[in-house]
Amino acid sequence: MTMRAAVLRRPGAPLTIEQVDLAPPGPGEIMVRIEAAGVCHSDYHYMTGDIACPLPVVLGHEGAGIIEALGDGTSGRLAVGDRVALMWRPRCGDCEPCITGNPVLCQSGPRQAATGGLLDGTSRLSKGDEQLHHFLGVSCFAERVVVSERSVVPVPEGVPAQIAAISGCAVITGVGAVLNAVGECAGDSVLIIGAGGVGLSSVMGAHLAGANPIVVVDVDPEKLERATRLGATHTIDASAGDTVGQVLALFPSGVKWAIEAIGRAATLQQAFDCLAPAGTLVAVGLGRVDDTFAIPVNNLVQRQKRVIGSLYGSANPLVDLPKIFELYLAGRLPLDELIGAGFPLEEANEAYDALAGGAVGRAVIVP
Ligand code: APR
Ligand code: ZN
Ligand code: ZN
Repeated sequence: MTMRAAVLRRPGAPLTIEQVDLAPPGPGEIMVRIEAAGVCHSDYHYMTGDIACPLPVVLGHEGAGIIEALGDGTSGRLAVGDRVALMWRPRCGDCEPCITGNPVLCQSGPRQAATGGLLDGTSRLSKGDEQLHHFLGVSCFAERVVVSERSVVPVPEGVPAQIAAISGCAVITGVGAVLNAVGECAGDSVLIIGAGGVGLSSVMGAHLAGANPIVVVDVDPEKLERATRLGATHTIDASAGDTVGQVLALFPSGVKWAIEAIGRAATLQQAFDCLAPAGTLVAVGLGRVDDTFAIPVNNLVQRQKRVIGSLYGSANPLVDLPKIFELYLAGRLPLDELIGAGFPLEEANEAYDALAGGAVGRAVIVP
């Protein structure tokens, strides 16, 4: 079938809204009609060339919709008409990370990213003779997607499509960084640098877990205000300069946990410098492909600090996403507070201009 989709043809160029061909789902695959797709900073990294992927590509990796068709040999767990959230990390179920309970590191993820295809490495997207690529096995800036059935999680009644969409990336990444990478932190100090969709999700996670104080840093007062509504006990405006000095003025011995949800060397450095002895920096934001940051050797050793990375909330999405949906339905995760402006697919570029311009809240594209 043909459908409209937002295509990235080269880094630095705007997305083009094109009529493209979508092949029917193959074995173990499903077709989903997209109801909502989140405007995540990660796509922007590929649009600017910070990170590369096979081109041309249909972008979009956090989405939700309704199953319209099943390919042959699906497991039987999913049916036409089911509501699902999309995951940009599928799990094969067979590799070592999958077996040992770390499916975010499933070997199929990097393979999908490298080939621009689905699990078998081939694409269902084309335009005439031209092959188009999938983005992280998803490509939901489009009216429909064909994905592996291993790339979706059922969405319960009562969870709106836009909430389901952002839960599949920003929410599970930010909440999971706290619940999985940090773990038990009731009464512990948690610093969160960056109050975008991911950072604010970490604020909600820290609040849920009982962390105290919860210190949030951003350059935008409106985002800081939103952080306060979601449980931040202290906010720091980084545009005033000297972020580390401002944090240490409030908490002279440093913080036990620091979550960096931007992906920049300067803010990673700041997060490290804010750590108390035996404190842990959890790096969540993605940077440019070759970015590095310096860790002072003696400070690392003498203060017994730790630095860890957390991808996709270090989650087990098949377990954690249903939990997130139930917490939302129970009123314990106010995810509606994350939602920003809505854009039609035709205005995908405007949605990213708004992100780059610092718009508050997670924008959502409604194809
Ligand atoms: N100090 C503090 N905050 C900053 C600074 C700074 N120097 N620079 C930018 N910020 C804030 C922005 O104001 C914004 O609120 O960081 C936030 C980044 O949020 P978004 O652009 O909405 O990004 P988000 O989608 O939340 O993703 C964050 O996680 O998954 C990765 O690829 C993603 O690297 C990205 C990161
Ligand atoms: Zn994302
Ligand atoms: Zn696997």
